[in-house]
Amino acid sequence: MAPEVTPPLELEHGTVQVGPTGRPLPDFPEPAPLTAHGPARIIAMCNQKGGVGKTTTTINLGAALAELGRKVLLVDFDPQGALSVGLGVPTHTLDVTIYNLLVERRHDIREVIQRTNVQGLDVVPANIDLSAAEVQLVGEVAREQILARVLRPVLDDYDVVLIDCQPSLGLLTVNALTAAHGVIIPLETEYFAMRGVALLVETIEKIQDRLNPRLEIDGILATMYDGRTLHSREVVSSVVDHFSERVFHTVISRTVKFPDATLAAEPITTYATAHNGANAYRQLARELIARGGAA
Ligand SMILES: Nc1ncnc2c1ncn2[C@@H]1O[C@H](COP(=O)(O)OP(=O)(O)OP(=O)(O)O)[C@@H](O)[C@H]1O
Ligand SMILES: [Mg+2]
Repeated sequence: MAPEVTPPLELEHGTVQVGPTGRPLPDFPEPAPLTAHGPARIIAMCNQKGGVGKTTTTINLGAALAELGRKVLLVDFDPQGALSVGLGVPTHTLDVTIYNLLVERRHDIREVIQRTNVQGLDVVPANIDLSAAEVQLVGEVAREQILARVLRPVLDDYDVVLIDCQPSLGLLTVNALTAAHGVIIPLETEYFAMRGVALLVETIEKIQDRLNPRLEIDGILATMYDGRTLHSREVVSSVVDHFSERVFHTVISRTVKFPDATLAAEPITTYATAHNGANAYRQLARELIARGGAA
């Protein structure tokens, strides 16, 4: 994807503002409102490393895109159901979830989609049932393309579909990458952040080659960043050395407001609407749109 961003902010004295990734920070303008919706661009939130901010980013990027008037569908694709819980869906009482859509052909995705408290933000929930899907789908014809088929009927109703992957590179994640146009890779700003990323990139390349030639890496997102520490800045700088322009200018700082918002079962954009963390995801939404990663 060719990054299309406006030139960096010129400060009064003519110097350019350097962002947390060490590069000049462009201005990401508020995008024009959409006059019509769909077809959706599908983005998989993916990293087989656990606890890097996939679910937090799916919820809050989704909520920030919805604030911009985009119609957003979030897909919980992790049997832990953290995305569903984080949006207040009581997962253990659900009769039909993404699991049923994958393994039983008689369901329509519209039966499963739930509204959230955020206008324009809907969710396809999951629960522990999904843990059986991987084994059950192994013998299916075109087993990698099942999620793409499940999503197809509603793509015209949404502008963006975000898929929250589980921390593995198994068949569910392969389904997400096969359905997707783009992938966002959150990386925790820690030493060893890059561990496993080579394998993820290799998997993405295999899927581009064999199953989904349109798939592209939309961006690498540094999460849990602490700008006060040299350590955080060094990690981000090494990620930029490796992935250069594919790294989002936006970084997400470490703050307890994220786990707090999860406990409250709300996006940070409504839980602590003026907090830096909320504004960071708003900036990420504008950056994604400016780069062409969303309408
Ligand atoms: N920027 C942040 N600052 C502080 N805590 C965060 C931040 N982002 C996420 N967290 C917390 O870190 C934990 C892991 O985040 P999250 O669940 O989003 O990661 P994940 O990649 O989806 O994990 P898993 O691989 O288990 O699905 C959660 O408790 C979350 O609230
Ligand atoms: Mg998760």
